[in-house]
Amino acid sequence: MHNETSFDILIRGGAIIDGTKRPRYTADVAIRGERIVGIGDFSQHTAATEIDATGLVVAPGFIDSHTHDDQALLSQPDLPFKVSQGVTTVVTGNCGISIAPLRAGTALPSPLNLLDAGNERFTTFGAYLDALRASPSAVNVVPMVGHTNFRTIVMDDLERAATPDEVEAMKALLEEALAAGAVGMSTGTYYPPAAAATEQEVTEVSRPLAARRALYVSHIRNEADRCLESLEETFRIGHEVSTPILLSHHKLMRKANFGKSTVTLRRIEEEMQRQCVNLDCYPYTASSTMLHLDEERLQGRVTLASCEPYPHFAGRDLQDIADEWGVSRVEASKRLQPASAIYYSMDEEDVQRILAFERTMIGSDGVPAGERPHPRLWGTFARVLGRYSRDVQLFPLETAVWKMTGLTAEVFGLEQRGQVARDFHADITIFDPATVQDLADYDHPTRPAQGIEAVIVNGAVAYRSGVHRHTRTGKVLARKPADAAA
Ligand code: ZN
Ligand code: CU
Repeated sequence: MHNETSFDILIRGGAIIDGTKRPRYTADVAIRGERIVGIGDFSQHTAATEIDATGLVVAPGFIDSHTHDDQALLSQPDLPFKVSQGVTTVVTGNCGISIAPLRAGTALPSPLNLLDAGNERFTTFGAYLDALRASPSAVNVVPMVGHTNFRTIVMDDLERAATPDEVEAMKALLEEALAAGAVGMSTGTYYPPAAAATEQEVTEVSRPLAARRALYVSHIRNEADRCLESLEETFRIGHEVSTPILLSHHKLMRKANFGKSTVTLRRIEEEMQRQCVNLDCYPYTASSTMLHLDEERLQGRVTLASCEPYPHFAGRDLQDIADEWGVSRVEASKRLQPASAIYYSMDEEDVQRILAFERTMIGSDGVPAGERPHPRLWGTFARVLGRYSRDVQLFPLETAVWKMTGLTAEVFGLEQRGQVARDFHADITIFDPATVQDLADYDHPTRPAQGIEAVIVNGAVAYRSGVHRHTRTGKVLARKPADAAA
C-alpha cells in the first residue's frame, strides 16, 4: 500500500526530546505501520495523518513503571486516566498484588481487592495474558506477578510464614508466571496478607527470578520509622537471589522521618555499586492504598478515596466520619471496609530529593477505582513535566522525559521502546512544554492534564487535542521465551 515517499503519520517541526537525555533538536518524524521509519527533513513528503508540532515537544510515549491497572486494562480498556497524560505503556502487578493468578471462587483480602477484580478469576498468569491479547486496551502492558497472590493460593493461614512445602508451591506458581511472560515479581510485606512472610520465605520464593534476570520488585516492609532496615532486607534478598531489584515508590512517611531521604538515597547509591538496584517515585506528598485498620497506620490526616459500603463517603475525612458516628478512627475504618484512602504523610523536600535522584523513574501508583482516587492516577506525568521540571526546575525537561521513557525501558528490558529513534515502535507523546500541567488535585481528582496534544500507541493516534479516539492498539510486552536463560 505504501510507496517510498508517503507515510502513515508525519509529525512536522517538533522539538524532539528522544528519551536518552540528549538535548532536544528539531526534526520531522515519519511513521509507517507500527514503527518510526525516519527522523529528519520530510518537508517534501506527505502522510495520511499530518501533525504540526511546531512549538511542541515530540517525546517517546511515557511508560508508567508502577501501576495497579491489571483489571482496568480489561474493564476500562480506554484507560483515559493514562492516555490523557501521555502514558502509552503501563507496568502492572505491583506491591505484591496482581490480577493473576488467583484461586477460583474466593473473596480477596485487602489490598488485593483494590484491583477491583469483580468475580473474575484468572487461575494462571498465562490465562490473564491471553485475555489481554484477545481484548487489547489503549496502552501496552508490561506484566508482573504478585507474591501476595501466591500466599493466598497456597496458604490456609496468611498470618504465619510459609512452610517449605508452601514455598515450593509458590516457586512453581512463579515459574508458571515467568514462563508465560512476567517480567518480574513484586512483594508487599507491608500489607497484612504478606506481613508474616519472613525474609527467608521471600528469598526462597524469589529464586526462580535469577535464571531470567527478572525483577524482584519490593514495596518494602516499612517506609516509616524502619525504612532503612527495610531497605537492607530488600538489598539482602536481591543479593542472595542474584537478580535486579526495583524499589517501589520510594518515600519516607511520617513527620519523625522527614528529611531522612538524604540517608536512604545515599545508602541506595552505595548499594548500586554492589548490585543492580532501581527505584521509582510518584510526585505527591500524600500516599494512597487500602484503608488500614491499625492506629499506627491511621495517624495524620486520612481521607476516603473509595468505600464499598458507603460510596458517597468518598472524599470525606476519616476523622469527620468517626466523630459523626461517635467512634474511634480504627472502629470507623472497620465499618468502612472494604475501602481505600489517601494519607497526607510525606515531606515535599523528600519527594523532590527522591524525584531528582539520578536513577529515579516516574511511576504513578495510581489506583483506578472509586470516585475520588488519589490525583496521581490522572496527573503524575504532566505534574513531573509541568510542576517539577518547568516550574520548580528540579531537572531539565530532557531528564524528566528520560525518567519516564528511556530509563524505564532500560530497567524493564523493553526492546525498541522508550526512545524516539528510527526503527523503534511508534509510541509517541506530543506535548506543549509551556502549558503542560496536571489539573487533577485532591478536590478534583479526575481532571485530565492539560498540554498533552497527541498520543500515539504502536503507530495509531489514540488521543489528540483532548479527544480520546478509542483505539485499542496496546500490546502485551511479555518477556519472550527466548529471553529465558538456557
Ligand atoms: Zn506499594
Ligand atoms: Cu503500588
